[in-house]
Amino acid sequence: MTPHPNGDGPHPAVDTHELWKIFGEGSTAVHAVQNVSIAIEPGEFVALCGPSGSGKTTLVNLIGGLTDPTRGTVRVDGRDVGAMSERARAQLRLERIGFVFQAYNLLPVLSALENAEFPLMLRGAGREERRREVSKLFEHIGLGGLEDRRPGALSGGQQQRVAVARAVLGAPALVLADEPTANLDTQASDNLLEVMEVLNRERGVTFIFCTHDPRVMRRARRIIRLVDGHVERDAEKEPGTLPDWVLEPVDT
Ligand SMILES: Nc1ncnc2c1ncn2[C@@H]1O[C@H](COP(=O)(O)OP(=O)(O)OP(=O)(O)O)[C@@H](O)[C@H]1O
Ligand SMILES: [Mg+2]
Repeated sequence: MTPHPNGDGPHPAVDTHELWKIFGEGSTAVHAVQNVSIAIEPGEFVALCGPSGSGKTTLVNLIGGLTDPTRGTVRVDGRDVGAMSERARAQLRLERIGFVFQAYNLLPVLSALENAEFPLMLRGAGREERRREVSKLFEHIGLGGLEDRRPGALSGGQQQRVAVARAVLGAPALVLADEPTANLDTQASDNLLEVMEVLNRERGVTFIFCTHDPRVMRRARRIIRLVDGHVERDAEKEPGTLPDWVLEPVDT
C-alpha cells in the first residue's frame, strides 16, 4: 500500500492553539477544555486519557469541527476549522476524517453493512466493492455474518465495532475515536486495535483516540493526559509500555 497523502505540506495533521471550550455562563459555566495547544503530526497514534469529565470528548469534537471553540483555533492539515463554512467543514469531514463516537451513532433503520458502508458510498464506491470491503473488515473484527442485522439486534460491543468499521472504511487521513474499545472484551479489543495499527502503519492514517483502557494506552506511541480540561502530561513512549503517570489519581 502507498502512504496516505496525509497533509500535502509541512502541516501537522492536527494543531490547536490556546483552545478553550466553555459550556454555559456565569456560575454554572463548565470549562471543559482550557488553553490546549497541541500539535499532532501525520501518522501519529495518540491516546487521549484522563479522568471522566476531563474534556476528552469535547476536545475530539472540537478537532472534528463538531463543536465550536469558545476561544482559540483548531487546524486540520493546516486549515482553520473554525473559520470554515459549515459546508466546507462537512466536506473536510467527508474527505479526511473518520469518527467513532462514544455513543455509536449508528442509524437504526439501516443494517450493519449499510451503516458501515456509508462513507464508501458517499465517496462513490460501487455496490460490489462496498460489500467486499465491508465483509473483509467485518470478518477481521469478529462481525462476520452480521452484515444484515440492524443495530437494535446487535450487542453494544458489536455496535461499537460497526462504528469503527464505518470510521476506517473510507481510509481517511485522520481517525478520531472516542473510547473505541469501551464495550469490547479483550480479544475483540485486540483485534480492533490491530486493524487500527495496520491502517496507521501501512497507510499512515493518523489516530487520536480517547481511552480509559490501560491496554489501549499501552499500544499508543504518545499519550496526552487531560485533567480538568487542560493538558497535564503529553509524552511520547515506546509501544507496549505504560508510564505510571497515566493512571495517577488527580490531586485536589
Ligand atoms: N453540551 C454540554 N453542555 C454542558 N456541559 C458539557 C457539555 N458537554 C460536556 N460538558 C461538560 O464538560 C466536561 C467535559 O466533558 P467531556 O464529555 O469532554 O469529558 P470526557 O473526558 O470525555 O469524560 P468521559 O471519560 O466520562 O467520557 C464535563 O464536566 C461535562 O459535564
Ligand atoms: Mg468522553
